[in-house]
Amino acid sequence: MSSENVTVDDAFTKVATTEEIPQGTGIGVDVDGIEIAVYNVEGEFYAISNRCAHQRAPLCKAGDKKINAEHTWTDTRGGVNEESCTVSCPWHLWEWDLETGEHEASGQRIGTFDTHVEDQDVYVRI
Ligand code: FES
Repeated sequence: MSSENVTVDDAFTKVATTEEIPQGTGIGVDVDGIEIAVYNVEGEFYAISNRCAHQRAPLCKAGDKKINAEHTWTDTRGGVNEESCTVSCPWHLWEWDLETGEHEASGQRIGTFDTHVEDQDVYVRI
């Protein structure tokens, strides 16, 4: 869920600074034991569950370079699509809507969280 129309209260936790999440990327954070992936889409921040509902891949790794079984670098896999406001899982490329947490093809949904940016700090509400 994006940061629009959100009032900051005690339920919000600072998870990063805006500089720590460059546009078009995401990071993984832990808020009270809940794994959350936070993405920057054209300067708007979105937070969803960090675990893909398919086989629980860490969605914060989408777009990272990977090392295959022979320990050689492979191309990046998955990543943020700013145009569609989605992230593709790095394992099997299921595409998750960052606003709704929905995977359209299967109808499955993962959790989304409110975000807020204040003084260059990014907050997430769980
Ligand atoms: S674990 Fe995410 S698509 Fe398979």
